[in-house]
This record gives sequence, C-alpha cells and structure tokens, in this order.
Amino acid sequence: MANYRSLPITKFLFTLCFYNITPNAFVLALAMGDDRQDSNMRWVWEANRHEPVREGAKLTFGSNGNLALTDTDGRTIWQTDTAKKGVVGLKDFQTVTWPNGPNVLVSRENDYSFVLGQSSFAMYYKPRKVPLIYFKDGLLLESRNGTIFDLGLYGETSTKKALSFKLGLALTAHNKVDSVKMDLTRTKYNNKYSMLQLESDGSLNVHTYYQYDTEYLDPWEVSYKFFDKVQCGLPKKCGELGICENDQCVACPTRTGMSGWSKSCAPPRAAKVAVSNNHECNGKAAGAIDYFKVTDVVHFMSLYNEGEGPMKLSMCREKCSKNCSCHGFFFNNQSSRCLLAPEIGTLSMVANSSIVGYIKNPK
Ligand SMILES: *[C@@H]1O[C@H](CO)[C@@H](O)[C@H](O)[C@H]1NC(C)=O
Ligand SMILES: *[C@@H]1O[C@H](CO)[C@@H](O)[C@H](O)[C@H]1NC(C)=O
Ligand SMILES: *[C@@H]1O[C@H](CO)[C@@H](O)[C@H](O)[C@H]1NC(C)=O
Ligand SMILES: *[C@@H]1O[C@H](CO)[C@@H](O)[C@H](O)[C@H]1NC(C)=O
Repeated sequence: MANYRSLPITKFLFTLCFYNITPNAFVLALAMGDDRQDSNMRWVWEANRHEPVREGAKLTFGSNGNLALTDTDGRTIWQTDTAKKGVVGLKDFQTVTWPNGPNVLVSRENDYSFVLGQSSFAMYYKPRKVPLIYFKDGLLLESRNGTIFDLGLYGETSTKKALSFKLGLALTAHNKVDSVKMDLTRTKYNNKYSMLQLESDGSLNVHTYYQYDTEYLDPWEVSYKFFDKVQCGLPKKCGELGICENDQCVACPTRTGMSGWSKSCAPPRAAKVAVSNNHECNGKAAGAIDYFKVTDVVHFMSLYNEGEGPMKLSMCREKCSKNCSCHGFFFNNQSSRCLLAPEIGTLSMVANSSIVGYIKNPK
C-alpha cells in the first residue's frame, strides 16, 4: 500500500483517502480495511489514477449536490456529475452514479479490462487498438429489458449453525425484477466484506476481509479465484508465447518443433518486424510469408470468438499474410472459421482440437 492520508469521511471498513506513489501526485481513493493497521487496507475504487492532483487540491461537495475534485490550478479532475439531481448526502451516490447503457467499463488494470455488457460481464485484453475477449461469465440475464443494472457479490449463511457461508455473484436487470445468482464458493468464515478485483495479470479474484480473533493474521483472504485451475485462459500466462497445460507453461512452439518453455519463448522475431515493415505484409510480399503449424491447441480468444468465415484455409492464410498486425491465425477444420490473432500469447493444450494454429514466420 502506498502512502496515504485518510479523510474524515469513513464508515466501518471504508475510508476515503488521498494516496500517492510519487511525491506530490495524489489519487482520491476509497480504501477498505481497518484504518488502524495500514497493511490491512485495500483500494476498492479510485477517482483519478491516471490524472493525479497536487498538494492543495480540493474535494468539494457543492450545495447543488455535485462532488468534485479540483487541482491547485482550478481544473476539475473528476466529478460525480450529480448537480441538481437531488443528492443531499454521500449515501445517495451509490444509486445515482452507477453508469448505465451497454458495455460499461468497470475496471482497468494494465492492458486488462472488466466490462459489464447487456446481459453478462466480460474481460478483455487490449495490448493494442482492438480489445480481445478472454473471459465471459456463464450468467445470462434473460430479461428482454435486460440491461444490467447492478453486479454484486452476495454472502449468506449456508448452514443453520453458521458454519459455512455461501459467496456468489448476483446480476440484476434495470427493471430490478430479473436477477440471476451464481454461487461461487463457500467459506468457513463470514464473507460479508468481500470485493471483486481485477488483478494486474488479468485474473479476477474475490478478496474477503475477516478479522480473526488473533490480530497477527492478515484479515484478507483470496476467497475465490475465477482462474483457479484455468490459468491457461490468461492471455499472458506464458508471456509472449507458450503452450499451457494444467496451469503450467509446458512447451514453446518453434519453427523446428516443440522445445521446453522459458520466459524467452516468443514468436519468430521477423513477425514483430512485420508489424512496422509494410513491405512484408502489404500483399505484394504475402507469398514471402511463411508459417509454422501448432496442433492440439486453442488460442486464448478461441472460447469466445470463433473468427470469421466459413472460408478456405488458403483464404484465411492470405488474410493474415496481407495484414501487418496479424501474428498468426487459427483455423477451425470443422467450421472453417478463421481467427486472426494480433498477439499469440498463451495457447491452451486441447487434445483432438479441430483448430490448427499457424504462427507467422516471415523469411
Ligand atoms: C420492459 O420495460 C417496460 C417499461 O419499463 C415495460 O412496460 C415492459 O413490460 C417491459 N417488458 C418486459 C418484457 O419485461
Ligand atoms: C488484421 O488482423 C487483426 C488481428 O491481427 C484483425 O483484428 C483485423 O480485423 C485484421 N484486419 C483486416 C482488414 O482483416
Ligand atoms: C481423440 O481422437 C482419437 C481418435 O479419433 C480417439 O481415439 C480419442 O479418444 C480422442 N480423445 C479425446 C480426448 O477425445
Ligand atoms: C484438417 O483438415 C485437413 C484437410 O481435411 C487434414 O489434412 C488435417 O489433418 C485436419 N487437421 C486436424 C487437426 O483435424
């Protein structure tokens, strides 16, 4: 946890703070945890991570109901846009500031984002312009009016003697009638104080605060991991390139076959050059572009994106060869669908996969 200054706005387990990582650059954030022990605090929300303010900045709750953060030069860095909307106290914000409409960005960490869609949530990896889907929840809000109004965690006692506690996800539609719940796990401790967190490696965890009798134990536990036993679904689990099986990076595909995996495993260097050198992929030189085959694998996107088509393998190959940002393609033999990959990353081992991967190998 960075250095922080608590504001006098607090309610058990939650404290509004200004934190700084570099001198004189402050971020307004909401911390969860016991304020008396800073090591126990976790950030659950931040107003201005990408635009920190300086010493002397002001957080003002205007009489019109708007809450605004202004920097020392008077610029408004962040605001709730709740002027004249009947907001008279901080507890009203929860119901007023939830953004609505399709595809709301909820959280972003490095190149990863967590987005609420019309009827479910999804996770994207965006190393360049185009976001690549790598996770979608199995919950579907089957409401015809079904835009998601709220995504929340719920916890409830699952035995009469309160020896175990259910922890789950709940989606509620805008009409507030349709809702869907999905149990995630059970904990042996009360999980009332839980938060969903997108981690910096793109994984998604639930963290729960539970103060044991002994104060020497960290009150935070990771109570649920969405990528537990499916880490091979993380785009960068194996770095630039790697074949992943049972949460381990087990092999590195190369033009001469498989070798052991290490962090230096990467697509052929020329593939990177091709991105900036149009002559190698603008069509004229498409014939000069070669590929090597990888079988029994699926790309991290394949579960949620079957690609374009149907088309012939040769067409799919040509599309990739002509396209400077394509680093390889995945062709489904059964559906004849063609998935172009701007980045290869993690390939999951799947026996008898009908998908064959072709990794660009320009000469
Ligand atoms: C959708 O919402 C409108 C207005 O709230 C309501 O009149 C209508 O009955 C709803 N339709 C369904 C299918 O829920
Ligand atoms: C080029 O390839 C990228 C993926 O590498 C894909 O997203 C994009 O749609 C392709 N462009 C064209 C014109 O096919
Ligand atoms: C893969 O295919 C072979 C031959 O068709 C079959 O014998 C085997 O059971 C299949 N394995 C799986 C995991 O489906
Ligand atoms: C895909 O189809 C081609 C042509 O039908 C065949 O030669 C190849 O073995 C198939 N590959 C896989 C992995 O099914």
